[in-house]
Amino acid sequence: MRRSKKITGILSVLLLCSVLTGCNRQARDKLLRVFIDGVPTEQEEKPVIAGEKEKKETKMKTALPQAPTQFFHQPFLENQCGSCHDTKFSQKIVSQGKELCFSCHDDFAKDKKVVHYPVSEGACGDCHDPHQSPNKFILKKPIPEICFTCHAEEEIRAIPVHEGQNMCTDCHDAHASNEEKLLK
Ligand code: HEC
Ligand code: HEC
Ligand code: HEC
Ligand code: HEC
Ligand code: HEC
Repeated sequence: MRRSKKITGILSVLLLCSVLTGCNRQARDKLLRVFIDGVPTEQEEKPVIAGEKEKKETKMKTALPQAPTQFFHQPFLENQCGSCHDTKFSQKIVSQGKELCFSCHDDFAKDKKVVHYPVSEGACGDCHDPHQSPNKFILKKPIPEICFTCHAEEEIRAIPVHEGQNMCTDCHDAHASNEEKLLK
């Protein structure tokens, strides 16, 4: 008896609703909730939608390219332009090649039996950027790419000891060594 009364109640409310107010789904649900449990309220629906949106957003965020880490040469970062350039506003370099670099860094090539050719030429800038770079040690390209700018990759790969090797500096010193083949 009670149940049929309830159903009649629901039906009449629905009828009243649609006849009098032409109400939309949300209003109808609200009314129905008075009688039946489990009709999702607007608030209950929202988290599902918001959750999906959140998922999409984090997906988008991870798909976005990350800002690359930048490595700075300390005197550049500290605005000591004048230690390498005539003035902050002139691009003229105070001294050429390795003399410039060795005015602050120890001459690591001195007294070494084997000196890497570009180092002996003072061509530090073949591998290093004087200011900043997205690569460690302000290298112009990461290892091993920087090595392959001068050494043909196929030739290097053809040497058996190089099989599966990418971190060239695990075995070679990039500057100078007392061992053959710049081995450490
Ligand atoms: C450690 C030495 C050093 C310091 C410190 C330094 N520079 Fe340079 N800079 C160089 C060298 C070497 C070059 C030449 C690069 C080349 O020709 O590949 C250069 C080139 C430049 C150029 C030419 C364009 C370019 O980027 O290659 C500008 C502009 C410049 N430097 C501005 C500055 C300013 C501004 C500062 C200070 C905030 C500064 N530099 C600090 C060594 C330095
Ligand atoms: C005015 C002084 C000065 C001059 C000139 C200078 N450097 Fe430096 N350099 C520094 C200091 C300071 C550091 C940070 C401390 C350190 O690693 O010794 C540094 C660090 C470096 C590093 C290591 C960066 C890292 O991320 O670990 C490299 C590579 C380098 N310098 C290369 C050069 C080259 C190549 C030149 C010549 C174009 C040069 N430097 C000239 C002062 C100088
Ligand atoms: C053939 C490429 C190459 C050339 C040319 C080169 N470097 Fe480097 N340099 C490297 C690499 C690679 C590293 C990182 C070393 C490591 O991971 O063991 C490095 C590291 C450094 C460092 C920081 C670590 C250290 O050993 O103190 C300094 C300073 C530096 N180089 C200065 C110079 C100077 C000055 C010159 C020129 C005389 C020069 N480099 C020429 C490849 C080069
Ligand atoms: C700017 C050009 C240049 C770059 C960059 C360069 N090299 Fe070299 N390298 C040379 C030249 C030139 C020689 C001497 C001729 C030769 O043996 O091919 C040489 C020789 C060598 C040798 C043999 C040394 C010997 O005694 O026979 C080794 C090992 C070597 N490089 C390793 C490296 C590694 C590791 C890198 C990357 C960190 C690198 N090179 C990057 C130019 C370069
Ligand atoms: C596991 C240690 C190891 C690693 C890592 C390594 N090498 Fe070598 N490399 C050697 C040895 C050992 C030799 C000497 C081989 C020989 O003479 O047969 C050599 C020789 C060389 C030579 C001289 C070749 C010649 O004709 O004399 C060059 C250039 C060279 N390596 C470059 C590289 C480069 C570039 C990388 C990074 C891709 C690299 N190596 C990684 C051990 C290594």
